[in-house]
Amino acid sequence: MNISRLANTLEGSEIIKIAGEINELKRKGEQIANLTIGDFDANIYPIPDELKTGIVDAYKDNQTNYPPAEGVAVLRENVSAFLKERFGLEYNSKQILVAGGSRPLIYGTYMALIDPGDKVIFPTPSWNNNHYCRFTGAEQVPVITSADNNFMPKADDIRPHLKGATLLALCSPLNPTGTMFVKKDLEEICDLVIEENKSRSADEKPLYIMYDQIYSLLTFGNQFHYDPVSLRPELKDHVIYIDGISKCLAATGVRVGWAFGPEQVIDKMKTIVGHVGAWAPKPEQIATAKFLTQPVELNTFLTVFKAKVQKSLDALYQGIIQLKADGFAVDAINPMGAIYLTVKIDYIGKTAPEGEILKNSADVNFYLIREAKMGIVPFSAFGTNNSVNWFRASVGGCSLEDIQQMIPRMRLALSKLK
Ligand SMILES: Cc1ncc(COP(=O)(O)O)c(C=O)c1O
Repeated sequence: MNISRLANTLEGSEIIKIAGEINELKRKGEQIANLTIGDFDANIYPIPDELKTGIVDAYKDNQTNYPPAEGVAVLRENVSAFLKERFGLEYNSKQILVAGGSRPLIYGTYMALIDPGDKVIFPTPSWNNNHYCRFTGAEQVPVITSADNNFMPKADDIRPHLKGATLLALCSPLNPTGTMFVKKDLEEICDLVIEENKSRSADEKPLYIMYDQIYSLLTFGNQFHYDPVSLRPELKDHVIYIDGISKCLAATGVRVGWAFGPEQVIDKMKTIVGHVGAWAPKPEQIATAKFLTQPVELNTFLTVFKAKVQKSLDALYQGIIQLKADGFAVDAINPMGAIYLTVKIDYIGKTAPEGEILKNSADVNFYLIREAKMGIVPFSAFGTNNSVNWFRASVGGCSLEDIQQMIPRMRLALSKLK
C-alpha cells in the first residue's frame, strides 16, 4: 500500500479481536463475564463524587480554552505536593508534565529519548512497549520473565542486555500480571543502571528508566509500592515516571495523566506532547488539582474502591484455586496490586467436544469464550510466545456476581476437554 513504512508495520491488537468475539456473543443476547478490558464499568466503579462535581463546576466556570502546554500550574503544584506527601519524592512543578492520560506521556518519553536503532529493554509480558518501540524505530529487547518471580524481572535477567541500551521500561504494579516489585529486586536493578551509567562516557547517551506507576495507589494488604528514586536518589536524573488518575481514581475516560523526571527531558516531552495536542482537558485538570488537595475524600474513595476490586480479585483467585484443588490444570498468582489476576490454564493440546484441538493459548481463550462465556486475555497479547499458558483476567469491567457465576461455567467447560 502507498502509506508510510511505519503504518505498514503496525499490528492490530489481539485484545480488540477478542473484544470483537465477545461483542458478537453479547449481540446474540449471551450473558458473558468480560474480564478482558483494563478498564472499569463506571456504574460499578464510578469516579469520586468530588471529582465529578469539580469537573462540572469547571465547565460552568467556562474553563474551556487551551490549557498551558505543560498543564495548568495549580495541577502541577498540587501533583508536586502529592508526590512529596505520598511517596516522599521531591519534584517541583517544572519537573512535572500533564497530558491527556498517561499514554501520550509514554509516547513522549520514547520520542524524547530514543533514536531509531536505540535499544529499549522491557520485561515480557508487559503492556504496549512493543508498540512504542515500533513508533520510534527502537530495537526491542524483550526480557522473558516467569511465574517463579511473579513475572517481574530480576537484575540477572536484565544484566546481559544493558550495554548500549538507552531505555529500560519498567512497571509496578504490573499490567498484565497484577504483581509488584519486591524491594530487593528493584534495588538490584537500580544498582545495575547506576553502574552502567558510571561506565559510559560523557558523549554517550545514558541509560534511562521509564517507571510506569499508574497503579501505585492500587495495592492490597501490606504490599508496599517501591520506586527507583526513593530507593536510589542518585538515579534522579535518569528516571522518568509515568502516573495519573486513570486507574487509581477509576477515571480512565477523564484523561488526566502526569509524568515527572529531569527537567531537560520533561521540557522536551512538553514540546512533543504539545505538537501532538495531547493535553488533558482544562476542566478535568482543574478538578483533579482540587481533588488532590482533599486527602480525606481521596483516602475514603481509595479504601472503598480498593476493597471492592480486591473482593472481586479474591473471588476469582479462590475460584481458580478451588478448581486446582479439584484436579483441574489451572493455577493463579495471589493478587498484589492493580486490577488483574494472573491465571494459568494449562489445556494447550487438549481436544474440544467438536474435535477441535486447542493448539495455542488463543485457541484455549476462544474455547473459553464460547463454552464458558468468559473473556480473558492470553499473555501472547502482551508479547509472550503463544505456547505460554498464562492469561490476564481484569476485574474492573465485571461485578462480583458475574465472577462468582462464571466459575462453575469454567469448571464445566474445562471438564469437557480431553
Ligand atoms: C501500565 C499502564 N500504563 C499506562 C496505561 C494507560 O493509561 P491512560 O489511560 O492514562 O492512558 C495503562 C492502561 O491500561 C496501563 O495499564
